[in-house]
Amino acid sequence: MKETLLSLLCLLAFIVLDLPDPARAQPNTTGNTCDVNQTAYPCQTYAFYRAAAPDRLDLASIGDLFEVSRLMIAEPSNISFPNASLVPNQPLFVPLTCSCNPPPANNTYNITSISYANISYTIESGDTFYDVSTRRFENLTTFQSVEAVNPTLVPTNLTIGVDAIFPIFCKCPDANTSSIRPNYLVSYVLQPSDNISTVASLFNVSSQSITDLNGNNPQPFDTIFVPVSQLPNVTQPTTFPAPPSQKTERKGVIIGLSIGVGVLGILLILLIGLWFCCGYRVSEKKDYEGDKEEIRKDKWQQGKGEAEVSLMADVSDCLDKYRVFKMEELREATEGFSPRYLIQGSVYRGVVDGEVFAIKKMTWNASEELKILQKVNHGNLVRLEGFCIDPEDANCYLIYEFVENGSLHSWLHENKGEKLNWKMRLRIGIDVANGLQYIHEHTRPQVVHKDIKSSNILLDSSMRAKIANFGLAKSGCNAITMHIVGTQGYIAPEYLSDGVVSTRMDVFSFGVVLLELISGKEAIDEDGRVMWASAVEKFEGVREDQKLRKVRDWVDKTLVADTISAESVVSVLNVAIGCLNKDPSKRPSMVDIVYALSKSDDVFCDTSEDGLSPQPLSAR
Ligand SMILES: *[C@@H]1O[C@H](CO)[C@@H](O)[C@H](O)[C@H]1NC(C)=O
Ligand SMILES: *[C@@H]1O[C@H](CO)[C@@H](O)[C@H](O)[C@H]1NC(C)=O
Ligand SMILES: *[C@@H]1O[C@H](CO)[C@@H](O)[C@H](O)[C@H]1NC(C)=O
Ligand SMILES: *[C@@H]1O[C@H](CO)[C@@H](O)[C@H](O)[C@H]1NC(C)=O
Ligand SMILES: *[C@@H]1O[C@H](CO)[C@@H](O)[C@H](O)[C@H]1NC(C)=O
Ligand SMILES: *[C@@H]1O[C@H](CO)[C@@H](O)[C@H](O)[C@H]1NC(C)=O
Ligand SMILES: *[C@@H]1O[C@H](CO)[C@@H](O)[C@H](O)[C@H]1NC(C)=O
Ligand SMILES: *[C@@H]1O[C@H](CO)[C@@H](O)[C@H](O)[C@H]1NC(C)=O
Ligand SMILES: *[C@@H]1O[C@H](CO)[C@@H](O)[C@H](O)[C@H]1NC(C)=O
Ligand SMILES: *[C@@H]1O[C@H](CO)[C@@H](O)[C@H](O)[C@H]1NC(C)=O
Ligand SMILES: *[C@@H]1O[C@H](CO)[C@@H](O)[C@H](O)[C@H]1NC(C)=O
Ligand SMILES: *[C@@H]1O[C@H](CO)[C@@H](O)[C@H](O)[C@H]1NC(C)=O
Repeated sequence: MKETLLSLLCLLAFIVLDLPDPARAQPNTTGNTCDVNQTAYPCQTYAFYRAAAPDRLDLASIGDLFEVSRLMIAEPSNISFPNASLVPNQPLFVPLTCSCNPPPANNTYNITSISYANISYTIESGDTFYDVSTRRFENLTTFQSVEAVNPTLVPTNLTIGVDAIFPIFCKCPDANTSSIRPNYLVSYVLQPSDNISTVASLFNVSSQSITDLNGNNPQPFDTIFVPVSQLPNVTQPTTFPAPPSQKTERKGVIIGLSIGVGVLGILLILLIGLWFCCGYRVSEKKDYEGDKEEIRKDKWQQGKGEAEVSLMADVSDCLDKYRVFKMEELREATEGFSPRYLIQGSVYRGVVDGEVFAIKKMTWNASEELKILQKVNHGNLVRLEGFCIDPEDANCYLIYEFVENGSLHSWLHENKGEKLNWKMRLRIGIDVANGLQYIHEHTRPQVVHKDIKSSNILLDSSMRAKIANFGLAKSGCNAITMHIVGTQGYIAPEYLSDGVVSTRMDVFSFGVVLLELISGKEAIDEDGRVMWASAVEKFEGVREDQKLRKVRDWVDKTLVADTISAESVVSVLNVAIGCLNKDPSKRPSMVDIVYALSKSDDVFCDTSEDGLSPQPLSAR
């Protein structure tokens, strides 16, 4: 009740603050036309974006918004500490992949092909297309364009949790763009305080080259394209200069805005407060329930009506976010859960309405996994699509996206004919690290997966990795548990001995996965010996030059034929050994790991592209 009232208030506030101005003429509102046959597309480009209070003052949240890592923003933006917080208006260059997109099927807006970066955004409570385009994406797109590319969504009736495409305006240079042959056309939103010459000097290009491309009369808040051969050097953290004279003119606006921000701030504080007390209540309840795990399980079996009601109560706030499947649909999809459709464990493959899903029959209460999954949304985590409760025996089913290429475990350890090359393995390591970084750092309270292993890492059609199976995951941190779960060969020693649950136990298990990627060996051998122990013994504290030699003997034999650099392998090995430190506090955090792995990716790419791999593994 309180929440509905609050979101209503929020909505009201947004409406009051944000009435669209219909009088303003908006040229090219649906985006820039492009020719699908033009070879310039797709291309890599950048958008100029300004950090903004209250929720976009760190690279992580901006990276999440644009679906890139913080490192990918930090480097072009000359930010040396990607973990540091930003100041409002701090200039950033956000990388985009720009493509030329044919009009959507039901082309009621009569648009032709337009060029944009396809950014997917999950609608939250109170969002409107107008609000998200002007505020979060800072006018790098328009609500008209968002409506045009999302013909299936009703702008006045957006469902919370649905994904909408936000087409971020961009353009690729073609041969004729101008005589100077720019490498990038940077998307830049013209500010009221700008004129063409100030923009030209910011980017260190001529005014003429900008007007050639954008015409003479771009209006404030239009996205213009600035042709550059390289990104300008920005000096951080000085903000983009807003001339003082303009400031006085905009005083009224600023006062209005600060009142608005004030109102929003109060609402935000209220919301956070509410969330915190709910959060605490939940975690208290959870601890209590943790002890009663067994009892709860019995109860679950006992009264089917009761169980259904309790699960429904647990998930009632995410009902609109997920599809509720019918039991008949699942039975039909799997021919009555025939073993033919079994993927592994209790997970079946099934087709509902022409779409493939993975259907997991829960052997115990699903509410913990549901609670966690409804909080997370990241490309490197397997997405929950819906659920189903069987009214007859009170069983619960969770329905996930189907990930085409199966588990990393089967790719590494089962004879598949095809083998993963080093670049793919490195990519997989980075993907998993990104997914873990997300659950450790961007969910509140933190989520600990507790069962990271190669069979819980799935590979999609383009061999990108997704973390699956949050069945053992816990939210909240630094708890002690008496009930040890997990998988031999991956479990962190402090958890095994003392039951300490922390994000560092995921770091440890991730280290074991890295060792698997390097060596192709199973986490535990036929005699029950754990692989990580022998690896630590072999490599810990060994000098780098000796390491190089030892790695050659230890690395997966299928990789030796590959043109891989030993530096790259050793740097990943060093990350893995760091993760396996017996002292959890000495293990690196996922942030450091993502950074280190991305660096070894760079090292690898640099050398392999030059074709002068300095230390090819296959030598000798
Ligand atoms: C924008 O629209 C105008 C006409 O409204 C057109 O002349 C111009 O070429 C368009 N610009 C771009 C970049 O598509
Ligand atoms: C693109 O090329 C294909 C064949 O090469 C042609 O059929 C089509 O009409 C072209 N489209 C445009 C917009 O030029
Ligand atoms: C960012 O990380 C670096 C090293 O990883 C550390 O020295 C620095 O203190 C961190 N800064 C913040 C603000 O956390
Ligand atoms: C496309 O248009 C047809 C008829 O105009 C309509 O029946 C259908 O629902 C529309 N599809 C979408 C995805 O909007
Ligand atoms: C699209 O074109 C059709 C026919 O040319 C026209 O009836 C319709 O009004 C146009 N729609 C828009 C949104 O301009
Ligand atoms: C945009 O991306 C989403 C998901 O990544 C995809 O389903 C969709 O087809 C893409 N749309 C276009 C126009 O490329
Ligand atoms: C985006 O444009 C609108 C006017 O169209 C303006 O009110 C708003 O402040 C702009 N947003 C940003 C972040 O500059
Ligand atoms: C809004 O959408 C929901 C489901 O998508 C539908 O049930 C409801 O009737 C819609 N409301 C309006 C006013 O169109
Ligand atoms: C580029 O310019 C040349 C001559 O100016 C012209 O012949 C050619 O068609 C142009 N190409 C494109 C893609 O516009
Ligand atoms: C652009 O703005 C600067 C400073 O505000 C001013 O000195 C300059 O004359 C302006 N240029 C044009 C072409 O309006
Ligand atoms: C940016 O700085 C680098 C080295 O500091 C220099 O080589 C490059 O020319 C500079 N670029 C511009 C556009 O000033
Ligand atoms: C990066 O920013 C620092 C100040 O934060 C500045 O001294 C340095 O010159 C900048 N680097 C480049 C390449 O512009």
